[in-house]
Amino acid sequence: MWEVVSLVKTYVQQQTELGTDEWYIARRIMEKPGPTRTLSQLCREVKDCRNCHLWRTRTNFVFGTGPDNAGVAFIGEAPGKDEDLQGEPFVGRAGQLLTRILEAIQFRREDVFIGNILKCRPPENRDPAPEEIEQCLSLLEKQLQIIRPKIICALGRIAAQTLLRTSAPLSRLRGKVHDLYGMRLVVTYHPAALLRNPHLKRPTWEDMQLLRREYDRLK
Ligand code: URA
Repeated sequence: MWEVVSLVKTYVQQQTELGTDEWYIARRIMEKPGPTRTLSQLCREVKDCRNCHLWRTRTNFVFGTGPDNAGVAFIGEAPGKDEDLQGEPFVGRAGQLLTRILEAIQFRREDVFIGNILKCRPPENRDPAPEEIEQCLSLLEKQLQIIRPKIICALGRIAAQTLLRTSAPLSRLRGKVHDLYGMRLVVTYHPAALLRNPHLKRPTWEDMQLLRREYDRLK
């Protein structure tokens, strides 16, 4: 009973804060446990995906990296040039910065899951199109169903708005812990934005400390 009350309370609170009337990704993750499989099995199943036209221009499908039981999942937007060439997420300049940020809050890159909303690079690194996001999102849901991380970190506006199903600006989404049916979610700036604007370093550091505190509290 109290669980239901608390779920409704969190829901109403979140709807009020976000001004959004849709909130389905987390529900689908929690409601459909799906068949038991590992991330590498899932990767084998989907790596030749042609659900949208991005397969035509990709060099590699970038599934994501990290163990099946990762406690934290960092989710970015889409592979860039380096990621497309190497088949791994966040390996370019922004990725190197992400690795340093992880280390600063005592996470090792190999212990966390790192992935993206889109698994294929949009040409010229343009923003993902809504239909590309819709096509790709069910794969991220499957990944999160396997991992069931305690906490998710959305890197940047696209990841945050997609996961939280809102069009609220990033500045309103960061700095707090969102509850997604049992998983926590923290929003912060994309590392590429930090490379462009060093003033974002301080708020990002605050978000990372929030993430670490929440992770430790849930341990
Ligand atoms: N930016 C992203 O959002 N993801 C990557 O994997 C690399 C850069």
